[in-house]
Amino acid sequence: MVVGLLVACDSSQPKQAVGGGPVPGELQVGETKFNANCAACHGKQAAGTDHGPPLVHKIYEPNHHGDPAFQRAAANGVKAHHWEFGNMPKIDGVTPEDVDQIVKYVRWLQKQAGIF
Ligand code: HEC
Repeated sequence: MVVGLLVACDSSQPKQAVGGGPVPGELQVGETKFNANCAACHGKQAAGTDHGPPLVHKIYEPNHHGDPAFQRAAANGVKAHHWEFGNMPKIDGVTPEDVDQIVKYVRWLQKQAGIF
């Protein structure tokens, strides 16, 4: 009788992946660069802050904002159009290679959150 109850409990809890697992080794450089250059506005794990939107969000999935949109954002800045945080300035501290690594990290976060 007691055993039956335990089994029932075990299978009823779906696993939550969002923000969950450890960052894979090959993405840690991107995470470090994201935290140094983007997280002040886009938040830890790209979850957003008072100064900028979450990048872990449907509107930034690869089909709507592909990887070139990230390169353009970092190189030229962004005129506010989706939100009311104001414009994003261009980010001087990052090279296109840095942004490549940052995008890989952000895509991984988006995937963890089930966005695509
Ligand atoms: C000073 C704050 C700030 C920083 C730092 C910042 N962003 Fe942004 N970012 C914003 C804001 C605000 C928006 C939203 C603009 C809007 O209303 O669509 C934005 C939008 C974006 C977009 C969407 C662009 C589009 O085409 O709509 C991308 C991609 C992006 N940021 C990437 C980055 C990356 C990568 C970094 C780090 C290299 C970074 N941001 C650093 C404030 C910031």
